[in-house]
Amino acid sequence: MEFTRLRRLRGKKFLRELLRENTLSVSDFILPIFVVPGKGRKEEIPSMPGIYRFSIDNLNREVEEAEKLGIPAVLIFGVPESKDESGSPAYHREGIVQKAVQEIKKEFPHMGVITDVCLCSYTRHGHCGIIRYGRKETTSFEIDNDKTLKVLGKIALSQAEVGADMVAPSAMVDGQVKAIREVLDENGYRDTGIMSYSAKYASSFYGPFREAADSSPRFGDRRSYQMDYHNREEALREVEADIEEGADIVMVKPALSYLDVIREAKEAFNFPLAAYSVSGEYSMVKAAAQKGWIEERKAVLEILTSIKRAGADIIITYWAKGAAKWIGG
Ligand code: PBG
Repeated sequence: MEFTRLRRLRGKKFLRELLRENTLSVSDFILPIFVVPGKGRKEEIPSMPGIYRFSIDNLNREVEEAEKLGIPAVLIFGVPESKDESGSPAYHREGIVQKAVQEIKKEFPHMGVITDVCLCSYTRHGHCGIIRYGRKETTSFEIDNDKTLKVLGKIALSQAEVGADMVAPSAMVDGQVKAIREVLDENGYRDTGIMSYSAKYASSFYGPFREAADSSPRFGDRRSYQMDYHNREEALREVEADIEEGADIVMVKPALSYLDVIREAKEAFNFPLAAYSVSGEYSMVKAAAQKGWIEERKAVLEILTSIKRAGADIIITYWAKGAAKWIGG
């Protein structure tokens, strides 16, 4: 049968190449970058070997390297000097992210700069929104939706003002895309895009990130606002809502355990779709590779290709630089 012959022919490299359905490209990648206050800092994150927290004066070298490799955009996370109850350091004009954006845009005007819009690194309690406490503080609390939306709008605006190309709300608060879109439009930032963390699951794979961004909740967990991993249809409703609210790119996060959700979101809406291969996905492979139990390069290319094959147009990955080199070489 034809099929059998084709299988035998697959032994030939040229045919494998001709028949390849999905190919990773550097132009698919977004590189997350952590920025810390101070000078001369480039500190490796213990749970994420090879990933660093940079002070602003060391940022440009990292961005330059990304640009040379052909990575189209970076996603900026700030680790601020101070925190408060309502996360106000997130929208200071001289805030860590605001300064980082200005610095990058000054040196690399063509690099896409996307900024995280969330409160968890900026609040003392470490939750993603403004909290309304119940009678017993720390055991009963809920996110105050309206107050949080106001703050998220302020953060997004402060980032647009310093030149962010896109803002990426990750707080999983209802209505965040609409609220941010309105604030940006009202202030003349119609061309600032929104990449929304639409289907963000409450996941154990965020552990290393929380160390990197100092954003662990001090009490409780995020299950009241992030999604339950048993659910699939709910993810589609979240994605649909964000598209209706005006998102330019929607996202599924994490990636590896949610390939089915990526596929369905792509098929259901045929809308620009990002997948975030999160910190835990990175650290797992790194740890196994360090023990010699897995071949990092092969495993990473397989994982990233599976995310693309699932339907993601964009992959946010801590391997962006490494994979760019592997694909190129
Ligand atoms: C903040 C945020 C998180 C991540 C991205 N933005 C952590 C969280 O929700 O706890 C996780 C990214 C990663 O693990 O790489 N809301």
